[in-house]
Amino acid sequence: MSFAYKESHPVFTGFNLEIAPGESIALVGETGTGKTSLVNLICRFYEPQKGQIEIDDIDYTKLPLKWIHSNLGYVQQVPHLFQGSVMENIRYGRLDASDEEVMEAARVVRADEFIQNLPDKYDYKVGEAGNLLSTGQKQLIAFARVVLADPALLILDEATASIDTETEQLVQEAMHVVLSGRTGIIVAHRLSTIRQVDRILLLHKGEILEMGNHHDLMHQKGRYYQLYMNQFMQEVAEEEFQKEA
Ligand SMILES: Nc1ncnc2c1ncn2[C@@H]1O[C@H](COP(=O)(O)OP(=O)(O)OP(=O)(O)O)[C@@H](O)[C@H]1O
Ligand SMILES: [Mg+2]
Repeated sequence: MSFAYKESHPVFTGFNLEIAPGESIALVGETGTGKTSLVNLICRFYEPQKGQIEIDDIDYTKLPLKWIHSNLGYVQQVPHLFQGSVMENIRYGRLDASDEEVMEAARVVRADEFIQNLPDKYDYKVGEAGNLLSTGQKQLIAFARVVLADPALLILDEATASIDTETEQLVQEAMHVVLSGRTGIIVAHRLSTIRQVDRILLLHKGEILEMGNHHDLMHQKGRYYQLYMNQFMQEVAEEEFQKEA
């Protein structure tokens, strides 16, 4: 497919990609290279101008929008929470879920642990846009929503904001839990989180430059290897800096 926001600046030209059911894919690459655009196209926030996107071999413009909404889950970089309780915020994933189902979903992604430590537990009011919770906690709530909604296709935009190491560990584990048994596409910013996905696509100016699992791409010693090593060195340097401070 081909796609441009503005005709003079194509983002994708004859882009081709096939994702198998149940496969997990990670998109990595420099800023402005088309990761979010690809995700926006898959969600049908935009449609390609040429070629097509097919889901189960059907051109997705032929599917009702409602079908896409009920089969596709999208976890945003900073999940949108609304003023209300933890219970209400998780239930947003499936409005007819019982309290017990909500709590079970929270247990599955291990959000239950931090919720039990909140003053009113599941009745705790998260504040305007969830500002009384940390970014990591908001993400765990977003994952619990996904478990409730149970979409066949899950798109996940990893948070760029730093979260504390302990929550990060939980978020990473929860990510693997929610990805299992469904097709997943992750826009990854921290490369350490995607070592276990089936396939990593390194995008560059709207094209797939490198493709393979973490092990293969490290062996290639190409751009992915460089990105990974740079990030790794940066993390080590930050740790050293924090130790000294
Ligand atoms: N809404 C928009 N209108 C016009 N151009 C856009 C729009 N969104 C993105 N672009 C352009 O499309 C190209 C791809 O951007 P995209 O947001 O997909 O990059 P990205 O890989 O997600 O980058 P980042 O890592 O910074 O999130 C860029 O040249 C960008 O300037
Ligand atoms: Mg982006």
